[in-house]
Amino acid sequence: MPKDGRNDKVKTQGLYDRIADVQNLAMKINGYRSSVAKYLRSLNLDIKEDSLVLDAGCGTGLVTLAFQEAGYRPNRIEAVDLSHRSLSVARAEFRQRRRLSQRTDVVQSNVLTLPFADETFDMVLMCGVLEYTPLDDGLREAARVLKHGAPLVFLPVKPSIVGSVLELLYNFKIHPVAKVREAAERYFNIVGNHEFPITEPIAWSKTIFLLEKK
Ligand SMILES: C[S@@+](CC[C@H](N)C(=O)[O-])C[C@H]1O[C@@H](n2cnc3c(N)ncnc32)[C@H](O)[C@@H]1O
Repeated sequence: MPKDGRNDKVKTQGLYDRIADVQNLAMKINGYRSSVAKYLRSLNLDIKEDSLVLDAGCGTGLVTLAFQEAGYRPNRIEAVDLSHRSLSVARAEFRQRRRLSQRTDVVQSNVLTLPFADETFDMVLMCGVLEYTPLDDGLREAARVLKHGAPLVFLPVKPSIVGSVLELLYNFKIHPVAKVREAAERYFNIVGNHEFPITEPIAWSKTIFLLEKK
């Protein structure tokens, strides 16, 4: 069953508080950030200097860093996660980059109860987080805070051998791709479901959905 209770939330937070530094290092080594940056750049998204972007379940900030590396310069980025230690690592990473340090708010929050008004954001990024929550609840909350027609770049873990190993190591639950499509279609148009190039390690565990809020 997907994780959703208070105990699960506390356990997930505790897990990432313990492993944030190692996780950050591992993801740096496997090229995750540049794979995500390359994909985001290819989308040529309509992000303007007054745009607001949310990185929901930001962890140590790698996706926000990839977004910046892809050349996007929104007005503000809100980066939220449950894990205090992950958020500290993210803050330290952002502090090393002047623009990100000035324009990113790092906030402890649950992605299922985001502290933002309806239709706030021009874009949401959600990578590897809804494996810890009921899928429908997470997608509904992302849709709530997005403006009409705005994109959600959603990177779930896909069913695969590597995915199954990660599922055990990180104590999450992979959602079958058919279920992801079914849940996504309640709130979004599915613009695309892409795969990373097989030569990039991220391709072994994650798939990419580009969604547009209905
Ligand atoms: C696999 S990491 C992914 C981090 C980041 N998005 C990335 O792609 O590098 C999963 C993150 O989701 C966070 N998380 C899990 N459940 C969450 C929830 N309900 N609300 C906010 N963050 C959550 C964890 O604390 C962890 O930092």
